[in-house]
Amino acid sequence: MNIDERKWEIMFSENDLDKRISELGEEIKNDFKGKNLLVIALLKGSFIFCADLVRKIDLNQLRVNFMTTSSYGDSLSPASKVKVQSDITLKDITSYDVLIVDDIADTANTMAFAINHIKAKNPKSLKTCVLLDKPSRRQVDFIPDYCGFSIEDKFVVGYGFDFEDRYRNVPYIFNVTNELR
Ligand code: PRP
Ligand code: MG
Repeated sequence: MNIDERKWEIMFSENDLDKRISELGEEIKNDFKGKNLLVIALLKGSFIFCADLVRKIDLNQLRVNFMTTSSYGDSLSPASKVKVQSDITLKDITSYDVLIVDDIADTANTMAFAINHIKAKNPKSLKTCVLLDKPSRRQVDFIPDYCGFSIEDKFVVGYGFDFEDRYRNVPYIFNVTNELR
């Protein structure tokens, strides 16, 4: 990836991510054994994390659905309004133990919104998983059931995290320390 090295520093390498996501997958597998697991990935941010996570959850009955939410647009400041841009396609989730997966809980407005939205569909149970958590930024109460790493308030890019909708394809997570174009 051709990024000026003065402007970024690696926060989580491919190896760091693989190791921690393997642990999360094992934990989730043990907790959901014998249950009817439906993973709901929040797009776009979680697409890479979720793809790696589900491959570490060794359960045959696992299903995946996607929901696209949006809160930030192209700006760096959080908007408290979260919208559903496209909903899950599974019509009846009452027999499923749902795990909502997102890349990060920042203000947690997105997760709080997604939890309410999915709860209204009456799943059998509902849990949440985020790769990164920024507890210092909360605007609403939220503690994830599964969390990869808790971090300080840094702007993270790569591995699904975007900067102006780019760099999601970088295979590790880096912290922007200067202007990135
Ligand atoms: C980002 C991120 C989380 C959310 C976290 O998504 O992927 O979903 O913001 O912020 P919050 O806790 O303050 O709500 P965004 O809406 O930017 O869209 P994206 O997933 O398409 O990148
Ligand atoms: Mg998102």
